[in-house]
Amino acid sequence: MKISTFSENQSPDVINLFTKVFSDSEGQGEGESIGSLVSDLIITTDERDILGFVAVLEEEIVGCIFFSRLTLPSEKIAFILSPVAIATEQQGKGIGQQLIRYGIEYLRLKDVDLVFTYGDPTFYSKVGFQQISEDIVKAPLKLTQPEGWLAQSLQSGVIDVMEGSSECVKALNKQEYW
Ligand SMILES: CC(C)(COP(=O)(O)OP(=O)(O)OC[C@H]1O[C@@H](n2cnc3c(N)ncnc32)[C@H](O)[C@@H]1OP(=O)(O)O)[C@@H](O)C(=O)NCCC(=O)NCCS
Repeated sequence: MKISTFSENQSPDVINLFTKVFSDSEGQGEGESIGSLVSDLIITTDERDILGFVAVLEEEIVGCIFFSRLTLPSEKIAFILSPVAIATEQQGKGIGQQLIRYGIEYLRLKDVDLVFTYGDPTFYSKVGFQQISEDIVKAPLKLTQPEGWLAQSLQSGVIDVMEGSSECVKALNKQEYW
């Protein structure tokens, strides 16, 4: 398995992957919704504000992850990990964790201070995330599951309280994803 940065000519394969994986796990409607989120992310996000990584096995994309900029009410540089998908038949083999660790290490080397995500704390704690209260950093939209608001510090280890709101990129700025 080889991990590399996403390039735009991989867009059709990656959109198909997300649509299929989420259709398999959460139904066709969710699959289409995440497929269109990924398409929006690729099309509408300034290239300075997005980073993607793909896992390739035998010339096929079997996993993909995107990070996009989260603008905080502080000078800290932050990205949010969302979404991630591993091909249904390749799940549970460690690819998801490898891909996430690779992406986070890349961001650390680019001097990103903080990475956030919104998801299952049990899974994401395996790759360094911890639950974070909105009293410390506010999420950009209203959270339907506040226990899924997760973060990790890549430089200092400490996350200071920040007063004010945070802002995600346009494609993620829809209440249905939160
Ligand atoms: C969630 C996902 C990215 C994990 O990738 P993966 O390659 O299957 O996971 P790994 O093999 O690296 O890690 C497996 C571990 O994560 C846990 N895990 C796997 N999928 C999980 C899920 N959907 N929720 C919670 N935990 C999960 C397993 O229990 C396992 O733990 P263990 O190693 O202690 O047994 C992948 O299963 C996937 O694409 N699922 C469907 C889409 C999805 O839910 N995406 C995440 C939300 S954006």
